[in-house]
Amino acid sequence: MALRKIRQQGDDILHKKAKPVKEINAGTLQLLDDMLETMDANDGLGLAAPQVGVLRRIVVIRVEDALFELINPEIIETEGEQRRNEGCLSVPGKSGTVIRPQRVAVKALNRQGETVTVEGTELLAVAFCHELDHLEGVLFTDKALEVHDVTAEEEEDEDSAEKA
Ligand code: CO
Repeated sequence: MALRKIRQQGDDILHKKAKPVKEINAGTLQLLDDMLETMDANDGLGLAAPQVGVLRRIVVIRVEDALFELINPEIIETEGEQRRNEGCLSVPGKSGTVIRPQRVAVKALNRQGETVTVEGTELLAVAFCHELDHLEGVLFTDKALEVHDVTAEEEEDEDSAEKA
């Protein structure tokens, strides 16, 4: 495993659309392992492949000890609405409120190439939406009602402005 460099806002790759994974091979699995290590090393709750410079449709998410490794993920169902303060490993020091669905269902392939459907509410629903947006070249700052510098209170509040 290896840490990968996280691309930051201003890097063109973050604004490009990622391509589907056609075949899950050793390189795909290595990328998943590296993305997990990179996410954990940076205290993130999610990471999308374009954030480490790879334009492929792959995301990893870890929320409350539940780990998701999603290849070619698609949102198949949404319900309700929520507003939450978001942050992003590619936009350090900033956060902002984004309107997202309250519940989201996602269909994807897992690392074994099996089709899985996963579902999340609240923070997990936000994580699915935030990471899938990265695959479309969209950052939370493109959708936020406002973007501000992370405050000291937010730094202390573990549930606020989670970086993904
Ligand atoms: Co992000």
